[in-house]
Amino acid sequence: MSDKSSERRQFITGLGLAGFTGLGAIGALYAAKRSWDPLPSVKSAGFTTIDVSPAKENQLVVEKWRGKPIFILKKSAEMKKDKRDLVIGGANYHISIGLCTHLGCIPSYRPDSHDFLCACHGGEFDASGNVTKSPPPSPLVIPPFKIDGTKLVLGEEGPEYKKLKDAGLTA
Ligand code: FES
Repeated sequence: MSDKSSERRQFITGLGLAGFTGLGAIGALYAAKRSWDPLPSVKSAGFTTIDVSPAKENQLVVEKWRGKPIFILKKSAEMKKDKRDLVIGGANYHISIGLCTHLGCIPSYRPDSHDFLCACHGGEFDASGNVTKSPPPSPLVIPPFKIDGTKLVLGEEGPEYKKLKDAGLTA
């Protein structure tokens, strides 16, 4: 077989694998999303604007930004506040990319214990995305954001994001 055709075959096999993995991730996202009401959102050129005002306390909302799941969790009064929280419209929110920092699985939220469990290898995060049980090596990552009234603009680095980033709290 010529080098060209073997390269071509590898490319096609790669595409098949990527497609399969992608479909699995979309299926998981769809299954996750079905159980939550989506928030009003607008997507344009790499930015996603989400109005968080309809979010309900202690109910995880999963949005999508640049192909990644984004966790949005409005904290209730009894939930621990954290320096990684975003304050929007007077309420505290945890926002993160919903991929475990160990090997990239999507953790699930447990409203009763206010934490995230990653079923792949048993990693756990608190409701602010901090690791409470290994193997994840670091907290859930906070994506670039800007706060605009009750809206969250994902993909733009606003002053609140820069402050968290400078303090080393986004990753
Ligand atoms: S991928 Fe989450 S614990 Fe391994």
